[in-house]
Amino acid sequence: MKDQFGREINYLRISLTDNCNLRCVYCMPLHDLQFVPTSELLSITELEKIGHAAVEVGFNKIRLTGGEPTLRQDLVDIVRKLSNIDGINEITMTTNGYRLPYIADDLLAAGMHRLNIHVDSLDHKRLSRLMRLGTLDKAWAGIHAAEKAGFSQIKLNVVITRGYNDADAVELARLTLTKSWQIRFIELMPFAGPSEIALNNYVSSDESKQWIEDELGPLSPINGQALDGEARVYRLADSVGTVGFISPISNPYCDDCNRLRLTSDGRVRMCLLSDKELNFRNILRQDGSHQDLVTLFKQAIQAKPVGHQLKHGIHPENRTMSQIGG
Ligand code: 5AD
Ligand code: SF4
Repeated sequence: MKDQFGREINYLRISLTDNCNLRCVYCMPLHDLQFVPTSELLSITELEKIGHAAVEVGFNKIRLTGGEPTLRQDLVDIVRKLSNIDGINEITMTTNGYRLPYIADDLLAAGMHRLNIHVDSLDHKRLSRLMRLGTLDKAWAGIHAAEKAGFSQIKLNVVITRGYNDADAVELARLTLTKSWQIRFIELMPFAGPSEIALNNYVSSDESKQWIEDELGPLSPINGQALDGEARVYRLADSVGTVGFISPISNPYCDDCNRLRLTSDGRVRMCLLSDKELNFRNILRQDGSHQDLVTLFKQAIQAKPVGHQLKHGIHPENRTMSQIGG
């Protein structure tokens, strides 16, 4: 279904939990955290109902996010149920990878198509400082588990944060010389919670691209600069993998936005960077019908704003990134 600006909305991102086993500095505070209680998270049955309604309004692609989606004990069952819905052509997930050594095989068998793994550094110290509670060994174990299970087109998500992992732009891009992965540099965005750091330590895609080119030579655009998801994609000479830049701040892609987001407590957000939400969980828990959910999805698509308002200093105030799922 198209929204009022002619964008075809077919991609639903579902956050399965706002909890995470890490505490990245730009995503979550370290203390005084309160997570959505299990009883308030959408259940597997509720997620299935959402999936059926989503297909009816034209969604065909789902990404599971968090917090950290692998903390859901019923994740593999959720993937199996959603991938069995006729009309869902693709299920992907964004994860920090720490639990992949235990579940990667089962996820693939359940119908998961591709994985994005979040890792901000290749240096033990820098990684631990930025992804507090994170260790490089666990991140690598997760990436290797994904490869060993047979996942292809692996993407690594990196958030360059000035003063924390500047040197990693080059080191992570260098991986594409020998690995078929896509390394994607995501510009730091401000949300509720640790928004100071996002506003003060932001590095533009142009700047990190320059750092990479100074060290490793030119990055040549591929796909004629067409967006791959939200990334603009390049490659180094003689590389096996690719380098992507996701630039919501310096080069917004709102005109091409094709998505809605469902939070773990069952609210649909029309834009990552706008606090407006519609309450799907109420409908589900008040015995709403399939048709009620379809109607609410249509309302959400109609209410999608033209773009974000960061230029005007407006950023989300009601949720941290971990409560939305990116
Ligand atoms: N700005 C940009 N990206 C972020 N992520 C988490 N917090 C932020 C932020 N403030 C990224 C992580 C993760 C994805 C879901 O979002 O890299 O991979
Ligand atoms: Fe967890 Fe991802 Fe947030 Fe880091 S960015 S704290 S890994 S949800």
